[in-house]
Amino acid sequence: MIYMLDTADINAIKKAVDLYPLAGVTTNPSIIAKENRPLKAILLDIREVIGQERMLHAQVMGKDAETMLKEAQALRAIDPDIIVKVPVTPQGIKAMKLIHAEGIRITATAILTPQQALMAAVAGAEFLAPYVNRLDNICGDGVAVAAEMAQLIENYNLDAKVLGASFKNVQQVHQLALSGIQSVTIAPEVFDLLLVHPLTDSGVAGFVSDWEGVYGEGTNVL
Ligand code: E4P
Repeated sequence: MIYMLDTADINAIKKAVDLYPLAGVTTNPSIIAKENRPLKAILLDIREVIGQERMLHAQVMGKDAETMLKEAQALRAIDPDIIVKVPVTPQGIKAMKLIHAEGIRITATAILTPQQALMAAVAGAEFLAPYVNRLDNICGDGVAVAAEMAQLIENYNLDAKVLGASFKNVQQVHQLALSGIQSVTIAPEVFDLLLVHPLTDSGVAGFVSDWEGVYGEGTNVL
């Protein structure tokens, strides 16, 4: 599983880099807007925290393909390794072809159907981000859509990965992982929940109490 964090909150990113096997950070315009400061400063700060070895995704905002291409070039000027997120609109698909031709990596975003994902992959997107929770919210099946996307990638032997996105609970992440999806991007509050279980906490507390009762408070195996 490739884990990414869906946030621009620098403290949440620092925490996740420290604790978890984090492969990257994804942002979107709403996430960036929450920070209420210049995009360039936000991206440079994130890069400093995640290092060169992790992925950083940032989205274009243009309404036409030519503007999206210019934005992708501008994002690359800020961060040479940036992965540019492009929505799966008709102009977005055109932009993917242009951006891919420039050698810039692409994440196709705002995906709600498998056919949007298939066309994005053919146009050059490396990651395909289905919005699992937004589909579930309208009585769709986000995990099933993501699984069909993965099947299409396999059918056509395409060089793309599904990047599950828009999760609101661990069950959604779990069902997606069971279906064999290769990567997920998760908001910090859901990411932390992946490890939560009260019996884990009470089990660890029991080990501490039994150990310290014999070997002394604050001791460990050293
Ligand atoms: C990632 O590509 C998306 O921007 C993100 O996961 C959307 O999540 P939301 O539905 O919680 O806004």
